[in-house]
Amino acid sequence: MALAPLVAGNWKMNGLAASISELDRIIAGGRALTNKLELLVCPPATLVPAFAARARDSGVRIGGQDCHWEDSGAFTGDISAPMLADAGARAVIVGHSERRLGHQESDEQVRSKAQAAWRAGLTAIVCIGETEFERHAGATLSRLERQLGESVPDGAKADNLVIAYEPVWAIGTGRTPTPADVAEVHGFIRKRLHIRFGSEGHAVRILYGGSVKPSNCAEILTVDNVGGALVGGASLKAEDFLGIAGTYR
Ligand code: PGA
Repeated sequence: MALAPLVAGNWKMNGLAASISELDRIIAGGRALTNKLELLVCPPATLVPAFAARARDSGVRIGGQDCHWEDSGAFTGDISAPMLADAGARAVIVGHSERRLGHQESDEQVRSKAQAAWRAGLTAIVCIGETEFERHAGATLSRLERQLGESVPDGAKADNLVIAYEPVWAIGTGRTPTPADVAEVHGFIRKRLHIRFGSEGHAVRILYGGSVKPSNCAEILTVDNVGGALVGGASLKAEDFLGIAGTYR
């Protein structure tokens, strides 16, 4: 059976304790939507416990933005998947381009992080995406194929893996690929997942991410093989986030 679409908000390094009022607005507005789709909010780690407590029984789920590949140990400043699960998270983003590029994370590390997420019972949202240079070089699909092959562990299932296709050049820029480009890439990702994981790969949700807004979500989210959105900037305002989710109303 097909899983409901997933609209996930990546708050990045934004949000203080007072931001729980924004979560309250998402929970309130989400009530009319969560029978049709899943809503996930990924605040900074400092807010995961309070957000998870507030969202309990609401239909809105809370996730982390990154985790270490080890469960515990001498890794100053890092957060492990069991810690996120213990704080009430249900999912974690791994391999976001801001981690891959800003923190030099390799495909192998991303794969280990996804495995750590699974050990802790979390859904791994594995991000992949080409840079503008790679796109211009005609290397988009080969780049994605490599990231998919090396960042996604064996054993992926529709209920433990979500892929987020986020072209690096579209993140935070206001630029988006055309629906035809999104269709080509998502169709390609679907094919690779299907070849590797069979019927589970057929059912894994493939999110689009990168400058998704209320004004452009309808044309992107209705493309074949787009199973939802990973939303950055526009997820910080409940009204915009809910406006995007409302595509699936
Ligand atoms: P954006 O970010 O929506 O602000 O472009 C998306 C993301 O990085 O997940």
